Amino acid sequence: MAKAGERLALVWVLLQFGTVLWSSPCAAKSSHPRLRLSHKELWELNRTRVFQGPRGGLDLSTMLLDEYQERLFVGARDGLFSLSLERVDAEPREVHWPSTDTQVEECLMQGREKSECGNYIKVLHQYNKTHLLACGTGAFNPICAFIRVGHQAKQERLFKLEADHIESGRGRCPFDPRSSCVSTFSSGDLFIGLYTDYWENDAALCRLSNRSYTRTERDDRRLLNEPKFVRAVLIPDNDDPDDDKVYYFFTERAVDAESGNNAVYTRIGRVCANDLGGQRMMVNKWTSFVKTRLICSVPGPQGIDTHLDELEDVFVLKKKDERNPEIFGLFRTTSNVFKGYAVCVYRMDSIRAAFNGPFAHKAGPDHHWTAFDGRVPFPRPGSCASQMNGGHFSSSKEYPDEVLRFARDHPVMLQPVLPLHRRPVLLRADGDRRLTQVAVDRVEAEDGHYDVLFIGTDDAVILKVITIYNKDTDTMEEVLLEELQVFKVPVPITEILISTKRQQLYVGSEMGVAQVKVHQCDLYGSACADCCLARDPYCAWDGVTCSRYFPAGLYAKRRFRRQDVRHGNAVQQCTGLAAEAEQSQRAEERMVYGVENNSTLLECKPRSPQARVLWFAQRGADKDEVRANDRVVKTPHGLLFLKLRRADAGTYLCESAEHGFVQAVARVTLEVLEEERLEELFSKAEPEEGGGAQPRAPPCPNPGLRQGPASKLWYKEFLQLIGYSNFHKVEEYCERVWCSDRKRKKLKSLQPKWKYSQAQEKRGKGQGERQRMPRHASGV
Ligand SMILES: *[C@@H]1O[C@H](CO)[C@@H](O)[C@H](O)[C@H]1NC(C)=O
Ligand SMILES: *[C@@H]1O[C@H](CO)[C@@H](O)[C@H](O)[C@H]1NC(C)=O
Ligand SMILES: *[C@@H]1O[C@H](CO)[C@@H](O)[C@H](O)[C@H]1NC(C)=O
Ligand SMILES: *[C@@H]1O[C@H](CO)[C@@H](O)[C@H](O)[C@H]1NC(C)=O
Ligand SMILES: *[C@@H]1O[C@H](CO)[C@@H](O)[C@H](O)[C@H]1NC(C)=O
Repeated sequence: MAKAGERLALVWVLLQFGTVLWSSPCAAKSSHPRLRLSHKELWELNRTRVFQGPRGGLDLSTMLLDEYQERLFVGARDGLFSLSLERVDAEPREVHWPSTDTQVEECLMQGREKSECGNYIKVLHQYNKTHLLACGTGAFNPICAFIRVGHQAKQERLFKLEADHIESGRGRCPFDPRSSCVSTFSSGDLFIGLYTDYWENDAALCRLSNRSYTRTERDDRRLLNEPKFVRAVLIPDNDDPDDDKVYYFFTERAVDAESGNNAVYTRIGRVCANDLGGQRMMVNKWTSFVKTRLICSVPGPQGIDTHLDELEDVFVLKKKDERNPEIFGLFRTTSNVFKGYAVCVYRMDSIRAAFNGPFAHKAGPDHHWTAFDGRVPFPRPGSCASQMNGGHFSSSKEYPDEVLRFARDHPVMLQPVLPLHRRPVLLRADGDRRLTQVAVDRVEAEDGHYDVLFIGTDDAVILKVITIYNKDTDTMEEVLLEELQVFKVPVPITEILISTKRQQLYVGSEMGVAQVKVHQCDLYGSACADCCLARDPYCAWDGVTCSRYFPAGLYAKRRFRRQDVRHGNAVQQCTGLAAEAEQSQRAEERMVYGVENNSTLLECKPRSPQARVLWFAQRGADKDEVRANDRVVKTPHGLLFLKLRRADAGTYLCESAEHGFVQAVARVTLEVLEEERLEELFSKAEPEEGGGAQPRAPPCPNPGLRQGPASKLWYKEFLQLIGYSNFHKVEEYCERVWCSDRKRKKLKSLQPKWKYSQAQEKRGKGQGERQRMPRHASGV
């Protein structure tokens, strides 16, 4: 019964994923970004910097942002780098810290691969004002050291390994470079989740300082069962540092059989930062450890939800109120049937409520989990030794045995943590693409604040998305703003850091570090409508261009700002603007030639991939919408006539519609050539030497092909090619057959210059070319 229900729910989710991506009217919204740039385009537009290390490829494993010192510290294989936040590839400083030859030898003797025997820096924190703490795998023999950073006199930048103080890193760094390991550092304490031993049997959540050591009990599967560690973060509860708590996010295998053997759960675990363990029992063990399930599920029919149980990444969005950050989790389905991803958001009050709720209790192995309804001892396990408990206990070492015993027996809370709105804010099934990382920036816009999600994929792409919750319909709308390929090769993104101060994104992968701005407003286009329809909270139209939006007050003088993130209502924002009227008049004019009974394509690509395209045939003052039939097909590239008739000749208007805003994109005049006329035409056309600009001449004739029948052949082919409208083909063909270098240059210099995005530049180039080529011919 349960199985059938699950299957039903799965089908439903599949449908829902499908809806999001394919079949709803909003389909375009989800699958097409407003702006898509390849690595090459980013590079050519000077929008990115990439640091690949002196030897190419970094095997990057950690990144640490220091906005105060304006540096990005990178832990890599066999060393660390200090990069400039301004330009990651400018004057990097390096600390070379390989494993010693003896260590590598020993590592190889143990049967490890050479690549595993590097020193991979897995732990990297600001230790104090002058030093970083770095720990590496050290060829399966973990080591830690301090790195001197900062400035000396005369502005000299320091970045130096304190080589005489290299310590063992056992318990502070895993042995295996592939091992999952998370840590956070606060006032001398390192909080870490890792596998502490060579064979990866002992998973532990630990706190290490130079005074003491606290960890989870060994070999207790109720605490940790084959965990994959995802993130650790310290979050204060109130103003008393003694109440500070550390939260660990991880996935683990479910212990109880009732949920199936292979079930994976996402967990949030919590400890007190000041927990020193017990005095007589639970010595050096957490007395405050509690954990519960973190749920991210898609509501289904009949209350059967589909869970996404595999946690991929967690981002903690800090706010002014340090006690209440928002937690963003990136989840994946564990199902083999289909790969779905979701982002769920959690509020601290629901997390705290779960930990303050009932403890889970199991009377025996065959019993279900229920709420523990007996007496919970004081101080309540999970709370800290602080004033909150009346100040009766100055440390966990003073806790009564009864409390410790209860804590040991009840590590799990009954209530799970549910996400905001009880559903994901984002849901995606991108085919083969995997989502690996998430980072979030909160942005103030004209109509409120938005959380901009930057999602890293396994093919070197960053997706920039906003999600808008509609209270009335209780639904989420996703707006995919950008899709940027930040590395040349399709490597998985392993880190994303945001510098709000610099408005930059620092993206890590095994290839290195890429840097891109969090917004590319100008690339949406220069018209008010382009800017407004983009719905990017970073951007607004300032009367002249699409540029960075600053909330009122910051730049009080710049009142004239048009932006509507929630609705993208360009009609309301932009009509009546003089400049806009001018812009919308600027529909591109074009001539296209086709041969009777043959096919031809009237090309029209709106500036936004999210827009809907409408075609009209213009007859005098009237315009009729073109209906598709077995002869006329609407394609994503334009209007395709499969078999031209003479009566098809005329003027066609291509309009794009988006959020109710309609604008003319192109006006195409189609001329249909009859075959007899062609014959006639060729018998006359005799291009002269160098006649690229002559009315009758082809754009770049090959001397060998110029005579009579040969030139007819050429002309036919040419028409055929433009008929298919594939500009690249024409260009390629031209390169191969007709063009001498000299003429090609001449041709290039005739091309119009376009200012917009690379994509548009490309398109403009194509159209410019096509526009002109037939014109030479049309002089006939
Ligand atoms: C590229 O952009 C940077 C600023 O981000 C600027 O300093 C530099 O001059 C630009 N380079 C080119 C070639 O435009
Ligand atoms: C920072 O820590 C290092 C290593 O313990 C120590 O040598 C250094 O003096 C400390 N610096 C400050 C400013 O406390
Ligand atoms: C380490 O311990 C010593 C005393 O044992 C103390 O003076 C020092 O401040 C501690 N360092 C940190 C960073 O806690
Ligand atoms: C075009 O095709 C029609 C029939 O499909 C034919 O009658 C006509 O002669 C053709 N015209 C040319 C120029 O080939
Ligand atoms: C129509 O196009 C085809 C190529 O698809 C070509 O072989 C044929 O000659 C063309 N017909 C005319 C009448 O130009």
